[in-house]
Amino acid sequence: MNRHSQQPEWQKIPWHDPDFSRRMLAEHLSQMHDLASRRFDTIDEHVQWIHHKCLNAQPARILDLGCGPGFYTSRLTALGHTCTGMDFSPASIAYAQESDPVSRYILGDVVKLPYEGEPDLMMMIYGELNAFLPADARQIIQKAHTALQTGGKLLLEVSTHAALYRAGHNPASWHTAEKGLFADEPYLCLTESRYDLDRVIDWMYVYLMNSGEMRQYITIHQAYTDDEYRDLLAMFRRIQFFPSLTGSAEVGDFLIIVAEK
Ligand SMILES: C[S@@+](CC[C@H](N)C(=O)[O-])C[C@H]1O[C@@H](n2cnc3c(N)ncnc32)[C@H](O)[C@@H]1O
Repeated sequence: MNRHSQQPEWQKIPWHDPDFSRRMLAEHLSQMHDLASRRFDTIDEHVQWIHHKCLNAQPARILDLGCGPGFYTSRLTALGHTCTGMDFSPASIAYAQESDPVSRYILGDVVKLPYEGEPDLMMMIYGELNAFLPADARQIIQKAHTALQTGGKLLLEVSTHAALYRAGHNPASWHTAEKGLFADEPYLCLTESRYDLDRVIDWMYVYLMNSGEMRQYITIHQAYTDDEYRDLLAMFRRIQFFPSLTGSAEVGDFLIIVAEK
């Protein structure tokens, strides 16, 4: 038994908290790393793949679940698609709507909100599906299936089982920052990970150096095997797996699933 032997309730980092989301927006926009969103040159490649491989370069109605600052929707709109982005991060949605007035952006929780507009393509990328409680992930997929046009597609970029297993066995680590995602002032962040019951649990302990305040964050990611992904998507009539959103055949930490209604 150690202090982590109890599984915490399902938790995510507080994307929707106004201050956290403002700091997270800076991470999305950073071109120094791929932590919150990929860098723009990669996103450009992803958007070309989506436009050609998923949409045959034909104009489509697209709903992006967890769209962040709208990096995908804005580019897809520029290619002639009609896009809606949904996200519960206030700073990301404000940025998206301001930089892309043509698309529609909805601030809210993808588990709770209805999906409207009979999209031809719905997407949730960058492994976000794994960050939902499995019952919520099922609900998102069921709602997407109901909302899609017949013949419409759900595009998921999910974590591979192997990648999450590795992540759950990462050694504890620490970093310091003058300011960053966890605070607007200098802090030390200690991170511990554990893999248990096919879940990766990350604990982040943040010590604010000026005030001495301690903050704790927990994120949980659910690992699924390929068969478990197939089972989640069983209501779709056709399911295809791809190794990447760039067209590269190299197997990485993510798996692309295109499920057709
Ligand atoms: C890893 S980021 C990816 C953002 C964007 N898809 C991209 O690749 O640039 C995950 C996004 O999902 C959003 N998100 C997480 N849980 C959500 C929920 N329950 N409802 C709406 N948005 C959510 C976060 O706010 C965040 O913007």
